[in-house]
This record gives sequence, C-alpha cells and structure tokens, in this order.
Amino acid sequence: MKGRRVLFLIPTVLIVVTPAFCAADGAWLNHVPAKDHGRKNPYEGRADAVAAGRIVFSDHCSKCHGENAQGTKKRPSLRSARVQQQATEGDLHWLLVNGNMARGMPSWAKLGDPQIWQVISYLRSLSQ
Ligand code: HEC
Repeated sequence: MKGRRVLFLIPTVLIVVTPAFCAADGAWLNHVPAKDHGRKNPYEGRADAVAAGRIVFSDHCSKCHGENAQGTKKRPSLRSARVQQQATEGDLHWLLVNGNMARGMPSWAKLGDPQIWQVISYLRSLSQ
C-alpha cells in the first residue's frame, strides 16, 4: 500500500516542480566576472538618474517586466529580493549588457552605459 502511494506521488511531484525550474532562477549571477560584480553605479543617489531610468524602463522593459516592474505571466518581477538585494548594481549592469538570450532576456548594450546605469538607478529606487 505504502509503495503504491509513493509511485503515485512521483509524477505528481514532477508535474508541480518542473515549471519552477523553467522560471527565472538567478543562474545568470554565477556568470558575472568579479570585475563586473564590483562595478559601482556612477549615478548612485541621483534623483535625475531615477527619473531618466523610469523613461528607459517604460520604453524598453515594461512590455516584458510589467508597467511597474511587477513582472508578467512569463517574465520575472524586478521587485524581487534577487534584483533588489542579492545582485549588486554591477551584476545588473553585466546582465543588461550581455543579456540572457537563452532564457529570453535580450542584451541592452545598444542603449549605452548612461541609460543602462539610469535604468538600474530606477530599478533600485523601487525598494525604497
Ligand atoms: C523580451 C522580453 C524582455 C525584455 C524587453 C526585457 N527583459 Fe529582462 N528578462 C526577461 C526574461 C525572460 C528574464 C528571465 C531570464 C532568466 O530566466 O534568468 C529577464 C530577466 C531580467 C533580470 C533578472 C531578473 C532575475 O530575477 O534574475 C533583470 C534585472 C532584467 N531582466 C532587467 C530588464 C531591463 C532593465 C529591461 C529593459 C532595459 C529588460 N529586462 C527587458 C525578458 C525581458
């Protein structure tokens, strides 16, 4: 009886757990080189950078990550502890430059450094 119940449980667990592996898991953080990890945002603490970053976000990011960065059906929220606390601003810069195309996150290198740092300023302002 007990063995049968376990056999029934295995597929159920797989069905429930598998989609969680496909969702954003922060694996990209393991690929950030140390020199990028430690980079500082030149606009840190500047309200004008947050305002400029809000416009960059609404032009380029909101269609996937939601109008207020709350996430959409298949794209992660950027208000998460990972984006707000775990990742350094240098990590976020690296991700925006390189993207994570295998997971559906494009590279934003074409925006150039000022706009990339501004959108990071905007993202980090969301946790305050
Ligand atoms: C075409 C849809 C799309 C657009 C547009 C997009 N992203 Fe993403 N983004 C994704 C997806 C999908 C992921 C999840 C990747 C993964 O699984 O690690 C992601 C992940 C991220 C992450 C890491 C989140 C985490 O929890 O690990 C950040 C930060 C991010 N995006 C910022 C941005 C910013 C800023 C912009 C605009 C400049 C942007 N994205 C535009 C699809 C998009």
